[in-house]
Amino acid sequence: MIFFEIIRRLKQQVFPALSYIFFVLCVCFFCESCAEKEHKYVIGVSQCSQDIWREKLNAELTMGTYFHDNVELRFASADDSDEKQIKQINQFLDEGIDLLIVAPNQVATVTPTIDKVFDKGIPVIVFDRKTDSQKYTASIGADNYEMGHQMGEYIATELKGKGKVIEIMGLKGSSPAIERHEGFLNAIENYPDIQVVASLQGDWTEESAVNALKDFSYDYSQIDFVFGQNDRMAVGASKVIGKNKNAKAQYCGIDGLPGEGGGIECVRDSILKASYIYPTHGDEVLQLAVNILEGKPFKKENPLKAALVTKDNAKVLLLQSEEMKKQEEYLDQLHNRADGYLQQLDSQRLIMFLAVGAIVLLLLLLVFIYIYYLQKARMNEEREKMTRDQLDFYTQVSHELRTPLTLIEGPLEQLGATKEMEHASLQTSGLFSIVRRNTGQLTQLINKMLDMQTSNGVVSLQSSSADEMAETHLVETLKEDVTSDNSDTSKTILVVDDNADIRAYLSTILQDRYQIALAADGSQGLALANEIVPDLIVSDVMMPVMNGLEFCQRIKSGIATSHIPVILLTARALSQHQVEGYESGADAYITKPFSPEVLLARITNLLHSRYQLKNLFTATNETKEAGQPTDSAKTASSETKENTFIQKFRQFVEENMSDSGLNVETIGAELGLSRVQLYRKVKALTGVSPVELVRTVRLQRGRELLQTTDKTVSEVAYEVGFSAPSYFTKCFKDEFGVSPSEMQGGAEAGPNS
Ligand code: FRU
Repeated sequence: MIFFEIIRRLKQQVFPALSYIFFVLCVCFFCESCAEKEHKYVIGVSQCSQDIWREKLNAELTMGTYFHDNVELRFASADDSDEKQIKQINQFLDEGIDLLIVAPNQVATVTPTIDKVFDKGIPVIVFDRKTDSQKYTASIGADNYEMGHQMGEYIATELKGKGKVIEIMGLKGSSPAIERHEGFLNAIENYPDIQVVASLQGDWTEESAVNALKDFSYDYSQIDFVFGQNDRMAVGASKVIGKNKNAKAQYCGIDGLPGEGGGIECVRDSILKASYIYPTHGDEVLQLAVNILEGKPFKKENPLKAALVTKDNAKVLLLQSEEMKKQEEYLDQLHNRADGYLQQLDSQRLIMFLAVGAIVLLLLLLVFIYIYYLQKARMNEEREKMTRDQLDFYTQVSHELRTPLTLIEGPLEQLGATKEMEHASLQTSGLFSIVRRNTGQLTQLINKMLDMQTSNGVVSLQSSSADEMAETHLVETLKEDVTSDNSDTSKTILVVDDNADIRAYLSTILQDRYQIALAADGSQGLALANEIVPDLIVSDVMMPVMNGLEFCQRIKSGIATSHIPVILLTARALSQHQVEGYESGADAYITKPFSPEVLLARITNLLHSRYQLKNLFTATNETKEAGQPTDSAKTASSETKENTFIQKFRQFVEENMSDSGLNVETIGAELGLSRVQLYRKVKALTGVSPVELVRTVRLQRGRELLQTTDKTVSEVAYEVGFSAPSYFTKCFKDEFGVSPSEMQGGAEAGPNS
């Protein structure tokens, strides 16, 4: 059942709360991952074409991101198509980029699109090639005019100012083609004997050079030098012109790329006479982009240095570039490894995050379960308290009803026993029995009410029906005792009850048989008990100032009053109340409404049992001699406390009996009691006064001395504290039925002993 209840609660309360928490955790996790990406700048790299020069540049850019991990690069290559490049740049715009790095294919066509990007506030870096507008943030690349010029100068020098030259130009309308051409022509102009036979149109590819030369019909054996605006076109030219038997032409280009088939290798292998390193410097391009994005200072124009490659330095340059390549590869490996670690770290972080999340969920679940149990426990407690309160209320009410019921039932009983009722008319006695029957029913109803309240077995009524039957038997037996005149008007009974009617009613029951003293609460009762030392106490339990339980307990712990039997007469009918009563030291516990006969029988019984102590006292020596305890001794053994008191009394008397001045005051002082208290207590316990008791002790000792020594009667009389031997003789005879001299003569004690 508990299991299903937990599941139901989990479904209703815990699961929705947990899913909410889980959702929050997911959002946090998502935000955390997004936060990381937020730092990344997206840079679009728009390349006009795809070839090894640009591949090198792209690789260098990528390597640059190893040092700037807040940058994400997106590459696009237009394959020498303006349209494609325009489309790709627009796509970058749509996707959202933070900066554009662009090498425009043809100046006029692509410029407007680049301007558009710039106008949108996106920084633009033009590299390698240019636009014909000023709408760019920065430009970076080598000086193409200068390179064309340098190559013109180089060729003129090689030809010693005389010869025929062909120029093969790059893509029409692209800025390097225009600028290199201008630079080249301006340099050659200074050498009148050098003839530029043609400036043929290529498009940067080897194939375009081949086609251009094939289309241009000329006797190529006359050509001394071919200037290809890049190495690939120069190699293409060599392939066409070199086929000519008498060809003497030399070739030079631009780019000076390392690697297989690159310009440097071609120079080393004498395919080209010279090349010019057209620097890529992707790392510098990326640094420039990062500076712009991070708001750091930067220059708008960033020229890159170029250098001539000839046979003299080609090998060294190749070696250098190979070394660099190795370093780059090494760097790449390191980067990949670091990347791997970072990924591991990421997945570890994810696992950790999930683990923490799971722990948090688990803890929350535990907290929920704990709270649920607390709530349940609290509710149970409240429910129990309510039930307890209800029970207390009903018990209280039932108890409250018992006192008035006593005061109806008791007097009714008494009325029923009067002579008037014996002679009453039929009608009166009929009415009387209706009242009696209904009072009985009312008592039963109240008992049932208490039974119902206690049906869970926690508490039970003092008397079950079985008890009642026993009780009835007891009443019958005791009634006989009561009627066989056990009254003793010399005995005093203290009645303690806060209800004046109950006090009055008890007085009517007891006054014919006993002396009555009355007190309205425990405190008054205690004072009175100490003063008069009654023979028995009948006390209520629920009383103001001092309740009956405390009163009883204090009576039982006072030396002067400890021997007094206490009957608790109370409306508290539950067995637990009865237990409390006996624990306080009560000798009997009678519940209201009570039967007067039972009360009287209990009183008689309790008073009677006290006399048995006297027998114990006087019989001590005989029982010692007989070697077995009497019945009365057995009874008294349970009353150790009072027994001890009497033994103390006897011991003190025995030790001081030669003192003829030994009196009741001295003994009382020794035992901590006043004269009256000592008298009442001793009388109650033994049935004789202390003086008589002292005399008995003396006489018993006297008898012992007469029997066991050769002392004279006078000597014995003085020794046991008698001032006159004649008085000793008289008392001795009264006590034992024989005179001391007869006892000395060997006579046994008479029946009085
Ligand atoms: C590479 C390339 C190089 C040339 C440069 C001019 O795409 O054709 O060979 O030097 O572009 O922009």
